[in-house]
Amino acid sequence: MSSNHVSRPWYAAFVIFAIAVAGLASAAFYKDQFRAWKDWQRSFVEQEIVRATTPEQAAAAKRIRVEIRQTQLPELRRVDRCITCHLAVDDPSYAGYPQPFAYHPNHDRHAFDKFGCTICHGGQGRATTQEAAHGAVEHWDQPLLPLRYVEASCGKCHVPEDVPEAAALTQGRKLFDDLGCRGCHRLNGIGNSIGPELDHVGRRRSPDWLVAHFRNPAEVTPGSAMPVLGLSDTEIDELTVFMLSLTGEPLTEYYVSMRTLPGANLGQRLFEEKGCIGCHAVAGRGGDVGPDLEGLGQRRDAEWIYSHFRDPQAVSPGTVMPQFSFSEQEARALTEFVLRLSDSEVVGYLKIPRMMSSEQRGAAVYTKYGCAGCHGRDGKGGVINPNAKTGEQVPSLLYVAEGYTTKELTEFIKRGQSEIAPLDAKRPAPPLYMPPWAGKIAPGELEDLVAYLQSLFPEEEGLDW
Ligand code: HEC
Ligand code: HEC
Ligand code: HEC
Ligand code: HEC
Ligand code: HEC
Ligand code: HEC
Repeated sequence: MSSNHVSRPWYAAFVIFAIAVAGLASAAFYKDQFRAWKDWQRSFVEQEIVRATTPEQAAAAKRIRVEIRQTQLPELRRVDRCITCHLAVDDPSYAGYPQPFAYHPNHDRHAFDKFGCTICHGGQGRATTQEAAHGAVEHWDQPLLPLRYVEASCGKCHVPEDVPEAAALTQGRKLFDDLGCRGCHRLNGIGNSIGPELDHVGRRRSPDWLVAHFRNPAEVTPGSAMPVLGLSDTEIDELTVFMLSLTGEPLTEYYVSMRTLPGANLGQRLFEEKGCIGCHAVAGRGGDVGPDLEGLGQRRDAEWIYSHFRDPQAVSPGTVMPQFSFSEQEARALTEFVLRLSDSEVVGYLKIPRMMSSEQRGAAVYTKYGCAGCHGRDGKGGVINPNAKTGEQVPSLLYVAEGYTTKELTEFIKRGQSEIAPLDAKRPAPPLYMPPWAGKIAPGELEDLVAYLQSLFPEEEGLDW
């Protein structure tokens, strides 16, 4: 061993020398790092000079200053310097250039001087080295979102159902409903508390964590009561996008204007889907159970219409107009739409569908409150509830029409069942119980829900008693 032959003083000197060399090397590295943006700007100027077609343009290109560029965004509480390197984001003639000089797709939808970059991409706005700006550094907890999850940011400001451009977000939002996540999780005040509230989950959890957790919750959180949902990779990505959109970031009115004023497009879709025309005439077409909706704006103001959609009984006691379980945003969108109904252009292209039955509305109630999270899609069961006497699974609901009268079923849903009998007293208690729904589900919704559950009985088996 050669080191045994080196005397101690020499050995110490050698260590100091080695440290000094390493220090110099890393100082040079960091200096390079901090200079990189200048190199990018110089090569951008060269580009501009090459692209100039007149002497004036060439002269102007030469005058471009090498300097830090930034956007002050006080309302978003940030300063973004990304354009120090991403120099041509708003110049379509740079489409397809190598990064960081490429033109940005759809640059005119969100003016960069009002939006900056990090509100959509994450990353560290003030930083001027690539590593730090892209957030791949230890002290920064919001690294650049991988591009395939960037749609998550659209959900900070837009209603997911209202941005067809963000297909994965829209789909993730829909899966959240269909899979009944609210049966165990609260979001925006609706849902149960068996799992954590999800209002800020996009800030707590990284894309990788979420993906691994959706694959197998118990592998990430040992003993988790969250079921393995058997999702495809695409579905997992879509749900992950939706989760990442839930940051609860406070945003000023301008930025969330698209959320507080969801478009009439969403309103029209709901109007068609819910079959309002079955009871209401518009431009002489439709039913006559309720008033003709033309000229509505002269009779009612927006606040009245909105409240009536949220809870028709509360506004017009005794009305036969059903409660459709609209979310706040849906009720607003619908309000905006019905107020435009005298617009003959709007009326012209309305589709006329069939009226919705009580069972169909009940299916929407089943979805809204997340019953599927425990009872499976369409009440088919299959969700594991270890050590439950009823068979280690939450019961399927296909046969409730057989075991309960309408009144008993209504009462049971209101009351719930918090004490679930264990199969084996020595094993841990079953993690899932039936939450009480009294006060959470409005009477009109409950009636439709019960009609839906009773309709689940497999027809071919018949009810023969
Ligand atoms: C020091 C220069 C520099 C700064 C500052 C910088 N970037 Fe970049 N960025 C680059 C370069 C170079 C690339 C292309 C190389 C790469 O993909 O790593 C790039 C690529 C990207 C990409 C594409 C990544 C991908 O997966 O294709 C995004 C998104 C991005 N930057 C966003 C940002 C945002 C947001 C900021 C500000 C917080 C920022 N950048 C600041 C130099 C920079
Ligand atoms: C409104 C949200 C939003 C804002 C604001 C925004 N971006 Fe993007 N950015 C996106 C989306 C979405 C994509 C993916 C586009 C696509 O592939 O269609 C993207 C793509 C990119 C890419 C990769 C482009 C490619 O095709 O490889 C870069 C680099 C980038 N953005 C940088 C920036 C910079 C720098 C800013 C600020 C000047 C910025 N972005 C502002 C949403 C945004
Ligand atoms: C910080 C809030 C915010 C984020 C994040 C955001 N938007 Fe927007 N978006 C707005 C606002 C506000 C407008 C209206 C801008 C204006 O007209 O000045 C808008 C406009 C739009 C429009 C044009 C709508 C119209 O009717 O003209 C589309 C499309 C759009 N956004 C899609 C997206 C997509 C897709 C994403 C995600 C990549 C996204 N937005 C992210 C706030 C946001
Ligand atoms: C039967 C109840 C149940 C259902 C249904 C359920 N979860 Fe969970 N979930 C839990 C429990 C319990 C936890 C806490 C333990 C853990 O981390 O797994 C949890 C944890 C989570 C977490 C981590 C939250 C955090 O901050 O740690 C996310 C994200 C999540 N669930 C999303 C979903 C989504 C999305 C759905 C619907 C596709 C869903 N869950 C369906 C019970 C459920
Ligand atoms: C957190 C899980 C969970 C959610 C969410 C949940 N349930 Fe249940 N439910 C259960 C469990 C567990 C039982 C079994 C109770 C028992 O064993 O006594 C049950 C039992 C029932 C039963 C009786 C079934 C039978 O065969 O006797 C009905 C009906 C029912 N639930 C309806 C609903 C409806 C409707 C919703 C949505 C509004 C809902 N449940 C949401 C866990 C849940
Ligand atoms: C089963 C029949 C029925 C259906 C379906 C129905 N409504 Fe109604 N609607 C009524 C009746 C009856 C009234 C009058 C009593 C009241 O104010 O609730 C009414 C009142 C209204 C009013 C107030 C009209 C006024 O001039 O005061 C509006 C707006 C309205 N409905 C919109 C809708 C929309 C939008 C839908 C579809 C989402 C819908 N309705 C579905 C029966 C129905």
